[in-house]
Amino acid sequence: MIIAIDGPAASGKGTVARRIAAHLNYAYLDTGSLYRAVALSVLRGGGDPGDADIAAEHARTLDPALTEDPEIRSAASGAAASKVAAVPAVRAALLAFQRDFAANPPGGLAGAVLDGRDIGTVVCPEAARKIFVIADVEIRATRRFKELLGRGEAAIYARVLADLRERDERDGSRADAPMRQAEDAMLLDTSHLDPDQAFESARAFVEAGTI
Ligand code: DC
Repeated sequence: MIIAIDGPAASGKGTVARRIAAHLNYAYLDTGSLYRAVALSVLRGGGDPGDADIAAEHARTLDPALTEDPEIRSAASGAAASKVAAVPAVRAALLAFQRDFAANPPGGLAGAVLDGRDIGTVVCPEAARKIFVIADVEIRATRRFKELLGRGEAAIYARVLADLRERDERDGSRADAPMRQAEDAMLLDTSHLDPDQAFESARAFVEAGTI
């Protein structure tokens, strides 16, 4: 059983996905962490995340341990992740890992929840349930701003808002696997929902029908 949860940065998709996975005892994969790890690897190597050849090489030789590095959560890693994610060879290098995780969830669990931008459209179009999570960009910026401050990062609200807009534009307009809602996905707008309400809405959708 595969559940695909997509949406823009800071929409709340990660929180919803993690809670759905815990609720169903399914494996969980934050696919953004793969792109963030590739980006961090490029940055640490002194490379330009916009350079397709360099980004592809780092994706092909990615050390999975890097997905656990707290630095992948920095604003710089997020912005660079959006750049490496536009490179088709990077996406191709990460595709098999994601599909294998979905088809064979670690620990022999009965299902997997994957969150990202293209899970319902490209990585797992066969997913049994798909949710596309959105929220107003100003609300997402406020969430991300508080999150950065909470982690002790220096942040300016206007800059966070501008970065989110730039990432939405890049993630949604790239030629290869752009972020978009799958036709059979439920649209979940978390703008005015707290995390419990967002989870409840997603849970009700996931558990309706055959699951
Ligand atoms: O969800 P996130 O903010 O951690 O994702 C970081 C970047 O990775 C995002 O800007 C776009 C890219 N990404 C992607 O292109 N496809 C995915 N399935 C997940 C993330």
